[in-house]
Amino acid sequence: MREGTTPLVRREDYLAPAYWIRTADLTFDLDAAKTIVSSKLAIERNSALPVQPLRLHGEDLNLLRVLVDGQSVSFRHEDGLLVIDAPAADAFTLEIRNTISPEKNTQLSGLYASGSGLFTQCEAEGFRRITYFLDRPDVMAVYTVTLRGDPKKYPVLLSNGNLVEQGTLDGGKHFAKWHDPFPKPSYLFAVVAADLVAREQWVRTRSGKEHLLQVYVTRGDLDKTEHAMNSLIASIVWDEARFKLPLDLERFMIVAVPDFNMGAMENKGLNLFNTKYVLASPATATDTDFDGIESVVAHEYFHNWTGDRVTCRDWFQLSLKEGLTVFRDQEFSMDMAGSPSARAVRRIGDVRVLRERQFPEDAGPMAHPVRPDAYQAIDNFYTATVYEKGAEVVRMMHTLVGRDGFAAGMALYFERHDGQAVTCDDFAQAMADANPASALAGHLDIFKRWYAQAGTPRLSARGTWNAEAATYTLTLSQQLPDTPGQSGKQPQLIPVALGLLTREGQALPLQLQGEDAPQGTERVLVLTEGEQCFTFTGIQADVVPSLLRNFSAPVVLDDGLTDADLLVLLAHDSDAFNRWEAGQRLALNRIKAALGHGEAVQLDAPFIEAMRSLLREPGLDPAFKELALTLPSEIYVAEQVSDVDPQRLHTVREAMLDQLATALQADWTWAWDEHQVAGGYRPDAEQSGLRALANRALAMLVRAATLSGEPVWPGKAYQRFKDATNMTDRLGALEALVGAHHELAQPALERFYALFRHDPLVLDKWFMLQARAPEKNGQVFAQVKALLKHPDFKLGNPNRARALLFVLTASNPAAFHRTDAAGYVLWADKVIEMDAINPQLASRFARSLDRWRNLAEPYRSAAREAIARVAAKAELSSDTREIIERALQ
Ligand code: ARG
Ligand code: ZN
Repeated sequence: MREGTTPLVRREDYLAPAYWIRTADLTFDLDAAKTIVSSKLAIERNSALPVQPLRLHGEDLNLLRVLVDGQSVSFRHEDGLLVIDAPAADAFTLEIRNTISPEKNTQLSGLYASGSGLFTQCEAEGFRRITYFLDRPDVMAVYTVTLRGDPKKYPVLLSNGNLVEQGTLDGGKHFAKWHDPFPKPSYLFAVVAADLVAREQWVRTRSGKEHLLQVYVTRGDLDKTEHAMNSLIASIVWDEARFKLPLDLERFMIVAVPDFNMGAMENKGLNLFNTKYVLASPATATDTDFDGIESVVAHEYFHNWTGDRVTCRDWFQLSLKEGLTVFRDQEFSMDMAGSPSARAVRRIGDVRVLRERQFPEDAGPMAHPVRPDAYQAIDNFYTATVYEKGAEVVRMMHTLVGRDGFAAGMALYFERHDGQAVTCDDFAQAMADANPASALAGHLDIFKRWYAQAGTPRLSARGTWNAEAATYTLTLSQQLPDTPGQSGKQPQLIPVALGLLTREGQALPLQLQGEDAPQGTERVLVLTEGEQCFTFTGIQADVVPSLLRNFSAPVVLDDGLTDADLLVLLAHDSDAFNRWEAGQRLALNRIKAALGHGEAVQLDAPFIEAMRSLLREPGLDPAFKELALTLPSEIYVAEQVSDVDPQRLHTVREAMLDQLATALQADWTWAWDEHQVAGGYRPDAEQSGLRALANRALAMLVRAATLSGEPVWPGKAYQRFKDATNMTDRLGALEALVGAHHELAQPALERFYALFRHDPLVLDKWFMLQARAPEKNGQVFAQVKALLKHPDFKLGNPNRARALLFVLTASNPAAFHRTDAAGYVLWADKVIEMDAINPQLASRFARSLDRWRNLAEPYRSAAREAIARVAAKAELSSDTREIIERALQ
């Protein structure tokens, strides 16, 4: 384990590698206790640099021998590196033999055991835990891999590329030899040795080539792989259609792994996945799970071009592949969803994630630019900023150059950089060069500040209508908040999509001063300075501006609109995102007012009526209604105020839910009755929208009934829970009971456990459901503490740890932030305990106290004390140390 204070790695210190590794010939004698790794590398000196020693990365390895061109050679260990003085020849062969212990590898980085199988995870720096290497993404080699092992334990032996040979060996072992023709960085290397079965499918792509697709899982799970396979096929078709990017492999494999630190990994031709993002059947997975599988399968598949064919020069460029690939998977999911309203529903979901995860990050101690400047542990920078904000940066380029322009930019990017390890600048340059007349090309340097400056920009907008001149002048300005290590920032380029509505809700044609004719009813203004004015002509009456449509930039908007304005947008905006946003803001205004007064919320009739008419609006997408009738989350609201009191916030929001449940009871009943799915289960946008709204209605009806002591709806929920034929409805009904703290919740939970105790992914839901229940008198926190002692709770399994602990601390503020500080004590204990097992998981968990400075007292001081207690531990991993130290800075 890496311990102590690791020095900062800085982007500006980048140096090209002193040596290249051209080919890597690896042999694994596989065994869970002790695997022998024999490596033969063809190395060339980088002649552009002065001669220097060869320095190889290695971590937790047991070295047996080192040969250069077949001769033993002297070497030394320095700062965790294996150093060999410069060999005389410019090209030579290096042979290394070492052993590793997969079963002792609880970090799940490098080669590790999960269940009875062996699996690898190498991104970012896991390969050095397998053998000594130049473990950096700009060193690309052609790999040949021989795997040898016990055929009973490891009947399936996989690595990247193509299977070139297999057979039996003396002594009862068998072997498989794989060759990957594409040079690749070590982080894309993968090995699997396990007892697995595969769903297989041959597909023919446009070029006429046949490809073998395989989804590997453990024996009993084959019937849960259909959706993953369908998602893979859909991804292949989509990437060819939208970006003309074909599948370049004869064989493409997906393998499901039960113990996995993240979602999935795009190893060339051999994607490794968390089981959560592969396995699904209607009886065991929810609509959300089906969606998650579709988007993660797509994400990893799209990486084959944006990540594998063109990779990152160094880890500071991580968003080059992650931001772009998230953008691509978001677009794919929107295209799969189909209708414009289904697209908007996806967009709202993506923006919610951005605001609830990335905005807090940008406002806290871990704030960093999309292209970070420095890190201690690179694993700490697989963040919402690099992924989700990075995707928004790509989306803004798409907005600025248009759909065809973006496709042209992608084509130029691949024409220039296929097979290379490049930087974020290279991508932006290709986009600009392919669109020379665009605002992106015209202001490329300003635009690129999105990569360099951290923090969420504040966009202010104020409009004035001039009755005499019949003009409407919109003044846009931006402020960029200081973030750790960055102040005095420069203006960024902010695309502001907008429309103007009359107070009756009619969209007006938009003609800017100096233009000959109106250009439609929606357009994009480009703000590049601190402040700019835009004057629209032919405006005969005062208007309501609908700004930042479809969330055209990742900023916080202050447009000064009144509740009356917001009601106009909620009722009439043609932009579905802004309709939803107007409803959220009306709700937020009410929550904030109640927080400010310290009084109980009394919802006003106009708000309730607006919600009612939205719920009842004919022809409006049920999935959209469900989102619009969901109150802003406590996490989101907490970011909109300072000195947050999580208990008070929870009380206020719960009281609002009670009122919405009671005031709209007849409407919720109607919604439940009218949104039942007829016919067999399909996880598509249409059916899942119906289920989402029906389940929301059920939860509200059970809530209202629990308040009044009426037994019918809770009884119906229990019945639905028992009879449901799919997990979405079963869990929806269970959650309705649990969420209302109804007495039927306990028997339902017990029944659920009895039914699903042998299915780990469903059991995760059982833990999660209890950890995210709305807190009431400390019961939820007490239940989580009890569940930590449950025989099925395992801290070392990341999915289980996330289901119980991460959900409590990162998603259930009122259960976690307690006036007696018990939540923080638990947090500190578990950070320390987890860190000894799995630093990547622990440092991720540690981040749930990132925003402690935004808390009111007594929470703030208590949180600080808990963080300081962790900081005082001498034996912390560098991953966790970095998070903890930043939190205290
Ligand atoms: N590249 C993977 C993906 O997003 C994730 C790898 C995460 N690695 C890590 N050390 N957190 O598809
Ligand atoms: Zn990715």
